[in-house]
Amino acid sequence: MARRKLIYEGKAKILYEGPEPGTFVQYFKDDATAYNAEKKAVIEGKGVLNNRLSEFFMLGLAGIGIPTHFIKRLNMREQLIRQVEIIPLEVIVRNVAAGSMAKRMGMEEGAALPRPIVEFSYKDDALGDPLVPEEYIIAFGWASQQDLDDIVSIALRVNDFMSGIMHGVGIKLVDFKIEVGRVWDGDFQRLIVADEISPDSCRLWDVETGQKLDKDVFRRDLGSLADAYTEVAKRLGVLPSNVTHAPTKPTLIN
Ligand code: TMP
Repeated sequence: MARRKLIYEGKAKILYEGPEPGTFVQYFKDDATAYNAEKKAVIEGKGVLNNRLSEFFMLGLAGIGIPTHFIKRLNMREQLIRQVEIIPLEVIVRNVAAGSMAKRMGMEEGAALPRPIVEFSYKDDALGDPLVPEEYIIAFGWASQQDLDDIVSIALRVNDFMSGIMHGVGIKLVDFKIEVGRVWDGDFQRLIVADEISPDSCRLWDVETGQKLDKDVFRRDLGSLADAYTEVAKRLGVLPSNVTHAPTKPTLIN
């Protein structure tokens, strides 16, 4: 069989050329990185969990009329997606102060915010994904004012959807990141949710105990990341409740 053409390899995913023009195959790796890849590990089963969880969230968003790049899951680690022109921004929505916002503003992690706050980082690893004001985005031509208005509206709808889903299974959606891409119907542009939505790109705290169930477990050495993601998947009904780890290797059956 001919090798598939590699389009792009990132820290946690690989994109291959898809079977039809305008499609890619998105492969979820087990690699975990933090602090701009200064900290690295392989977490067995993470890619399988994130493939399933991103499918679950993307299908849910499509179900409420928010378009996404997701077409279908192909296997344990791969999904078929629409090719998009990625807007080079990390679109972050925060419900509670945490992470870089808590640090930047001298706030306690967990402090309530007056309302959900949307912010933008410029996607550039060499610069450490710096926070950028709308003025930069428009002046440098990464997106227009109309695009930004649409992106904020999409981000807040995603926040409502994700907060509700998570609240239903006893998890607080503290913050998350999405990426948005352009697709073209002739000359007409549409913005759709792209990349992935998974515990790699969210902060998720247990409502009762405050236990972290997201990538901070890895960033801050708080225990098993695979266990945390498995817990999220089980609560959402994405994995059967008796699975402790998503299997990634064939197991010899005696
Ligand atoms: P931060 O507190 O580090 O700025 O992150 C805010 C949220 O966005 C958190 O849920 C992690 C997510 N995020 C990513 O997934 N990738 C990124 O590159 C950045 C900057 C944030």
